[in-house]
Amino acid sequence: MILEGRVAIVTGAGSGIGRAGALLMAREGAAIVVADRNTEAGEATARAITESGGRSLAVTTDAGKDADQERLVSEAMEVYGRIDILHSHAGVQVEGPLEEVDPEGMDLSWQINVRAHFRLIRLVMPIMREAGKGSVIVTSSNSGVLYDHEMIAYATSKHAAVAMVKQIAIDYGKYGVRVNALCPGWVDTPFNDAFTRQMGGREALQEYIRGQIPLGRFATVDEIAESILYLASDRSSFMTGHALVVDGGECIA
Ligand SMILES: NC(=O)c1ccc[n+]([C@@H]2O[C@H](COP(=O)([O-])OP(=O)(O)OC[C@H]3O[C@@H](n4cnc5c(N)ncnc54)[C@H](O)[C@@H]3O)[C@@H](O)[C@H]2O)c1
Repeated sequence: MILEGRVAIVTGAGSGIGRAGALLMAREGAAIVVADRNTEAGEATARAITESGGRSLAVTTDAGKDADQERLVSEAMEVYGRIDILHSHAGVQVEGPLEEVDPEGMDLSWQINVRAHFRLIRLVMPIMREAGKGSVIVTSSNSGVLYDHEMIAYATSKHAAVAMVKQIAIDYGKYGVRVNALCPGWVDTPFNDAFTRQMGGREALQEYIRGQIPLGRFATVDEIAESILYLASDRSSFMTGHALVVDGGECIA
């Protein structure tokens, strides 16, 4: 098991990509601190891990709330005494072009897609710096490396997340802490429900994806979990400041 003895915090681990990554890291031996604002969903992920013989703790956390983040890190340290991996995953999508996104929509995007990562990494960094190692993964999106139609708040904040990752990677490489961005394309999760409705339903979205993505389909959450495991583990030990794009080729099409 490649994460034996390690401890990982995962925000947004109650569903979709965060959950799949948490389950896979747990199967590889990591204890998982499940941090979701939805208590029931977070506890269900933690239970799935413990029922299959892993170690897990659910801490209800709204990633956008400073006090929740502080409680999360202190509970993780109290219970496990170390933090080796942070997957700061929770995000928000506010869609629309410039004139349709109100400033509050941009503020929320910044708060969750940039500031929340900044603040949580800032809380965890002293622990990793002291340990002389650690892996931080920030979920951006392929919208963090390309430009989408009518996605000003999402694309701007996801690009900023990639920039922040690279800046932190430069500053903290000397402490042995690696910081990378995960940039998925279309992944089949409830996160896309609003967009699916906007597109006129599931079939219309699938048709769009068939035409738009070289691989012609959604990714499964388990495919993205493999990239999370790669970034979290020593298999990516010489990789930092990278934006790992896993999007079926969308950004080169
Ligand atoms: N699904 C995709 O196609 C896709 C593509 C690129 C990037 N992403 C990114 O992945 C993340 C969403 O993950 P998903 O697709 O698995 O979605 P999902 O809807 O399946 O799961 C999101 C989970 O995050 C939790 N959550 C939401 N806001 C939170 C907050 N403020 N604090 C704590 N928990 C919170 C929800 O309760 C839920 O359990 C976002 O950062 C999104 O930008 C998704």
